[in-house]
Amino acid sequence: MQARAEQRRREGRKVVLVPTMGALHEGHLALVREALKHGDELTVSIFVNPTQFGPGEDFDQYPRRIDEDIALLESIAAEGTLFVPNDDEMYPGGKAANATWISVKGLDEHLCGPHRPGHFPGVATVVAKLINVCRPRVAVFGLKDAQQFVILKRMVRDLHFGVEMIGVPTARQSDGLARSSRNAYLSAEQRRQAVVLSKAVFRAEQLIREGEGNPEVLIESMRSTLAESLAGRIQYAEVVDADTLQPLERIEAGRHVLAAVAVFFGSTRLIDNVFVRAPGA
Ligand code: PAJ
Repeated sequence: MQARAEQRRREGRKVVLVPTMGALHEGHLALVREALKHGDELTVSIFVNPTQFGPGEDFDQYPRRIDEDIALLESIAAEGTLFVPNDDEMYPGGKAANATWISVKGLDEHLCGPHRPGHFPGVATVVAKLINVCRPRVAVFGLKDAQQFVILKRMVRDLHFGVEMIGVPTARQSDGLARSSRNAYLSAEQRRQAVVLSKAVFRAEQLIREGEGNPEVLIESMRSTLAESLAGRIQYAEVVDADTLQPLERIEAGRHVLAAVAVFFGSTRLIDNVFVRAPGA
């Protein structure tokens, strides 16, 4: 893969990478379509990264459907490279043999970070590996995983990776539910109730646009919307600064914030969020 990427770069092609864990859906395809606008050598990676799953999380159940993934990619991109490494290629000798882990300080103290210890170091490390192997000039990610995107952008900046980072808005189903490979785990009833996640973050977005500057009010509003779903169990509802991912005492005029929620339906954990700029200034 490295040799191939180097060859493409020598030919003057602009390599653009879309890292994924497969089980591709419309959200991933939106990333690929965006990627095609930013480069002329598309690389998509599919790797269910073991080091970003905690004990008791869904690594074993995570959907793996490589044939469907290939068909979907072929339906939207005429050419490109699909990189599907195995565990031993990404972690020679296994996880225990990997001594280097990237942790992006401060940005994982809130939202998903405290609930998924080790998750973001696993994500940052595998994305660093994927960048070093696939040698892109541009990499494309979804804002659906907002904290992941903020962390990876910071890693790329701090470590001078020289990769342009593109964030793509969240692709949603018609009722607002953010598309996710994990939606497949939901029962019909849980699926109906899962609409509360997008309702909660859109409500917070609306309140912020109307000038609500008290994070407590926003959090309470998101919690009460989430509570409309009897099947769901709230893990967090938070409003943080969009760059530092730290909580705010007040949202001043012009401040860029991230309102985010995580909810369990049974053992299925779903997240949603919106970036929004407070009016004024
Ligand atoms: P995965 O969950 O497969 O997501 C791959 C990319 O698709 C991520 O950038 C994610 O934010 C984006 N994505 C997922 N659902 C989306 C939606 N509804 N709208 C827009 N984009 C969406 O995120 C990962 O894999 C992994 O952590 C990875 C970055 C590949 C590292 O292992």
